[in-house]
Amino acid sequence: MHGYRAALLSFADDGSARYEQDGLLVVGPGSDGRKVIRAAGNYQSLVGNYPGVQVTHLPGKILAPGFIDLHVHFPQTDVIGSPSEGLLPWLEDYTFPHEARFSDHAYAAGVAKVFLDELLRNGVTTALTFCTSHPHSVDAIMEASQQRGLRMIAGKVLQDRHSPDGVRDDTQQSLLDTEALIRRWHGKDRLGYAITPRFAPSCSEAQLRGAGELAAQYGDVWIQSHVAENKEEIRWARELFPAARSYLSIYQDFGLMRERAIYAHCIHFDDDDRALMRDTGSAAAVSPTSNLFLGSGFFDYEGAHRIGFRHGLASDVGGGTSFCPFHTMLAAYYVGREGQTKPGVSLGPQDLWWQHTAGAARALGLEGVVGNLAPGCEADFIVLDPQATPLLARKTAHARDLDELLFSLIVLGDDRAVASVIIGGQSS
Ligand code: GUN
Ligand code: ZN
Repeated sequence: MHGYRAALLSFADDGSARYEQDGLLVVGPGSDGRKVIRAAGNYQSLVGNYPGVQVTHLPGKILAPGFIDLHVHFPQTDVIGSPSEGLLPWLEDYTFPHEARFSDHAYAAGVAKVFLDELLRNGVTTALTFCTSHPHSVDAIMEASQQRGLRMIAGKVLQDRHSPDGVRDDTQQSLLDTEALIRRWHGKDRLGYAITPRFAPSCSEAQLRGAGELAAQYGDVWIQSHVAENKEEIRWARELFPAARSYLSIYQDFGLMRERAIYAHCIHFDDDDRALMRDTGSAAAVSPTSNLFLGSGFFDYEGAHRIGFRHGLASDVGGGTSFCPFHTMLAAYYVGREGQTKPGVSLGPQDLWWQHTAGAARALGLEGVVGNLAPGCEADFIVLDPQATPLLARKTAHARDLDELLFSLIVLGDDRAVASVIIGGQSS
């Protein structure tokens, strides 16, 4: 066992944050041998229970759960910052040609490594990531994640139509490949598989049907896709699936909405869509930097709160502009303030942080596994330095309460504030 003495940030079941100024975090083997958090609380109250345990003292630092990125594309690491009129030309002009390069296994392996370096530098310890349509792009990210002991969820993209040569896959083969990848990777060490139809317009009915059948057969794998991101995209989806009640309900019609189904964007929804998300236990991956960059629109927080469906934060790199969770939280705050049809929702810093940690874990069905500093959670956490930059040091020194401290980090923080990252109880 090992202890860490520092301030501790954790989350209660209702999403509110807990802060222990002089905390002790004790890490040790759990029932399956994996390193977990054994205790988290006030230093003076706990330390007597752990005689002889070596304690690393980190004065002035804050221990916090590793961030969870609910939706990202590892192959789009180098697509960040490619401006376009909107989603569909962005896909055609930048994204598909770039993803075609992942037919080269060595190239995919190289980008997987860079991607994980970026996640970790920014304090992101779990992500739900798209790969490309090439099955070995899954092997690349899984192998690299396995080497680092990460809890990572990934899937081969399904796109058998309306996609150029180089990324378009074959219907039957894509489903065989998906099943083989599930068997190869799902549940191996800390890895999970996600069935990954790119979005309804790029998938034939047969491919969506096959994906839904796999989702029924393998009930604990994840599902990830995109929905209701952009008005042109929605028009196109409705044209292709005229019988569906809405764009979202296409996925329901093919058996692709259930717990562990994560849909990116979910911007242009009506209340029936929101109720469908809620009733199926599906979750939205809210991607504000991407939505702002691609001019897609604004996630309706008021509607999400009113109807009550699961949601969490995501970078959506390369549509998104940053791997940094602080930047994503700040963009979500702007969206809450100015992007709502009803009067703005003031998203508090505790809620924003929760959406990127414990709330994201809940969306993934991994509550109590990752995303919190609570006994039993796997020992993935970050050491934050509130003095990482001169301005951050000035600002955090003046914080009068937890909200002010968290807001200072959200507004002024970046990867420099992430002093170190601990994965499964080991410094990475
Ligand atoms: N819709 C279909 N593919 C994509 C993608 O790669 N990024 C985003 N943002 N939306 C998509
Ligand atoms: Zn995306």
